[in-house]
Formats: sequence, structure tokens, C-alpha cells
Amino acid sequence: MTFNLKNNQRLIIKEVTEEDASDLITYMSDVVGETPNLLYTPDEWQMTLEGEKTFIKNLKKVNTSVMYVGRVNGEVVTVANLQGNNKLKTKHRVELAISVKKAFFRLNIATYMMETLINKAKEMSITKINLGVFETNKPAIYLYKKFGFKKEGSMKRGIKMADTYQDLIYMGKCI
Ligand SMILES: CC(C)(COP(=O)(O)OP(=O)(O)OC[C@H]1O[C@@H](n2cnc3c(N)ncnc32)[C@H](O)[C@@H]1OP(=O)(O)O)[C@@H](O)C(=O)NCCC(=O)NCCS
Repeated sequence: MTFNLKNNQRLIIKEVTEEDASDLITYMSDVVGETPNLLYTPDEWQMTLEGEKTFIKNLKKVNTSVMYVGRVNGEVVTVANLQGNNKLKTKHRVELAISVKKAFFRLNIATYMMETLINKAKEMSITKINLGVFETNKPAIYLYKKFGFKKEGSMKRGIKMADTYQDLIYMGKCI
């Protein structure tokens, strides 16, 4: 799938394959260093090529799990995924996660990735999308609200950074 960005560059979004593994490692190392809003710190995010390939392989074992990789001029600039499960009572729902490389913020990339994820969720007969977001991560909260996600709850002291706690906000969308 190809989308035109606000800066006239082209974003190409594809489902992840094992061939993306090496680029994904580089991407994640960069992104965890750029934002405090992901669960990993740069020191904690250590992934081998084999580990990444296994992760991708395992993801594909769950029917309702999917990961999309977005590239501009060949460079990975965004990754987003839905994580599902095979249990009868919970396989109608997935967990959403998304990130974009800082140099590519505000170009509509997350918007295109969210549209892609939501369309895919509908195609897979998913009826509920859940996510967790740090209380102070306003750009992400605005993004999710733009797509109709609503706050469903919060975990007090869900996140601790530099001795300061914040809530982890749970948001969801019925589709
Ligand atoms: C949140 C994030 C994914 C947004 O990506 P993006 O490609 O810049 O977003 P888009 O350009 O598609 O913008 C979509 C919407 O997000 C919101 N948004 C994005 N950045 C924003 C900002 N700095 N301030 C306020 N709203 C913002 C707006 O609602 C925007 O819609 P609008 O352009 O109609 O106003 C990106 O900032 C990011 O990857 N952050 C680091 C990782 C992260 O926080 N991931 C989410 C973890 S829960």
C-alpha cells in the first residue's frame, strides 16, 4: 500500500516478513532512544537477528496478530502491530502498538498506519481494539482519540521514570 505524505514523499506499508528483521532491529534501537514513551529503554532493548526472526515467526502463528512496516525511500520509518491470541473467550480482541521515527513526525504516517490496522482488524473479524498509553503522551492520546478510542481506565503508578510516577491509561475502541 502506498500513501502520499504531507512532504510529498511516499510511504509504503507492508506486512512484516523475516527479511525485515535486520532493519527492524536498527529501527527499534533508534526509536527507543528518541522517545521516553515506549516501555523499553535503549539499554533494555537488545535484540539479535535470530531473536527478531523468531519474534516475527511467532507473531505469524497467531491468526489475529499482524505487524506492519512502513518505509520511505527504503528506510523503515514506522512500525505498528496488533497482537491477538488464540483463546476462545478473548480472540475477538487485540492490543495495538505504534511508533514513528522522530524525523518523520506530523506527516500523517501514524494516521495511515492506524487506518491500515483498523481495516485489517475488521477484516479479521476483531470486534475490540485495546491499547495502553502513558498519561503524559499527549500526541499519542490525541492520535487515538482522533480514531475514536476512548479512555476505559487507568493504572495508578503504571509507569516510573526518573523517580516520577505516572498513570498508564487504558483506551479502547469497539469496531
Ligand atoms: C504518537 C505518534 C505515533 C504520532 O505519529 P505521527 O506520524 O506524527 O502522527 P500523524 O502525523 O499521523 O498525526 C495524527 C494525529 O496525531 C495527533 N498528534 C500527533 N503528534 C502530535 C503532537 N505533537 N501534538 C498534538 N497532537 C499530535 C494529532 O491528533 C494528529 O492529527 P492531526 O494532524 O489531524 O492534528 C508519534 O509521535 C510517535 O511515534 N511517538 C513516539 C512513540 C509513541 O509514543 N508511540 C505510542 C505509544 S502508546
